[in-house]
Amino acid sequence: MKTYKIAVLKGDGIGPEIVDEAIKVLDAVAEKEGINFEFNEYLIGGSAVDVFDNPCPDETIKGCLNSDAILFGSIGGPKWDKLPKEKRPESGLLKLRKSLGLFANIRPAIIFDELVNASTLKPEVIKGVDLTVVRELTGGIYFGEPRYKDDNKAYNTMIYTREEIEKIAHVAFKEASKRNKKVTSVDKANVLEVSELWREVVEEVAKNYPDVELEHMYVDNAAMQLIRDPKQFDVILTGNIFGDILSDEASMIVGSIGLLPSASIGGKVGLFEPIHGSAPDIAGQGIANPIATILSASMMLDYLDEKKAADRIKKSIKKVLADGYRTKDLSSFDAKEIVTTSEMGSLIAENASN
Ligand code: NAI
Ligand code: MG
Repeated sequence: MKTYKIAVLKGDGIGPEIVDEAIKVLDAVAEKEGINFEFNEYLIGGSAVDVFDNPCPDETIKGCLNSDAILFGSIGGPKWDKLPKEKRPESGLLKLRKSLGLFANIRPAIIFDELVNASTLKPEVIKGVDLTVVRELTGGIYFGEPRYKDDNKAYNTMIYTREEIEKIAHVAFKEASKRNKKVTSVDKANVLEVSELWREVVEEVAKNYPDVELEHMYVDNAAMQLIRDPKQFDVILTGNIFGDILSDEASMIVGSIGLLPSASIGGKVGLFEPIHGSAPDIAGQGIANPIATILSASMMLDYLDEKKAADRIKKSIKKVLADGYRTKDLSSFDAKEIVTTSEMGSLIAENASN
């Protein structure tokens, strides 16, 4: 039987509650698909600060590097907000991503037909949307040097090298090959030199993927098109800052932040986490929606090449939603019964083992 070593980083706030449900579901599909998971827990974020005075201890990085994949909850909370920057939970996550070389962030926006009313957009606009944003995560203007600020002047630098663009473009084209075979590369090539290079390199990489269609779009237009007609997109490929903004915009097409998974890949080990944070306002109440984390676990299985197990989870979520079960965040959208975090996890696990 195939055994996968999974590093489990539950983190803070609702992190432990939602990750526990994802593990429940993973155990259920493992039994069904004849695979095995070895879960090893490590501390990250505020809970690591409390024990090690360090939001990303070496032991955690070592544990992650020694695993097949990482399942991550969420970090942060008011308890640690006053600490100096390097001790803040958020620095822990940045350090982890950097240490593991996770340069590509993948955020799918999947619409469940059962929840079309949860979106602020019209159902006919969003029904059938199936897009994913591939964002470069460790370069661009957020990391570029020089950077500077005084009272009268401040600047940042947007830098991309050919090598960085090639790497992220390959991720996007590979993703599109597995999906609906279209890449929309988003830039601002009418204004920025860095975008001119981006376009040139993306065109070159595209030649390796003859069955994938490539189009270019300016970021301002992309922001508009995402709301006007999101169905036109399959894979959106973009740099760090544009991707930050567009992936948040794309996530709102879906409706609830509690539904959205993500993958950060590129290094030796992929990291899978919900896009939301630690939700301190609802932590410990048993009302957090675990679906974003359970979908992240499904992405993790895809990444491990366990497609059947991954699909089993997606189908199960769909069934539970079709049956009208909702956590509190989705209680106004065609709910038949409101369930707790743990009940939602159990329902999905149960259906996944049918
Ligand atoms: P948040 O995503 O934690 O919460 C925003 C709102 O969405 C809150 O009202 C929350 O209750 C709700 N929400 C989030 N996840 C939910 C779920 N699964 N089910 C139901 N409702 C959910 O963002 P916020 O409040 O800005 O940040 C809280 C903390 O999380 C901060 O310390 C922040 O730095 C951290 N954070 C951590 C991230 C990570 O771990 N990757 C990402 C974003 C924020
Ligand atoms: Mg963001």
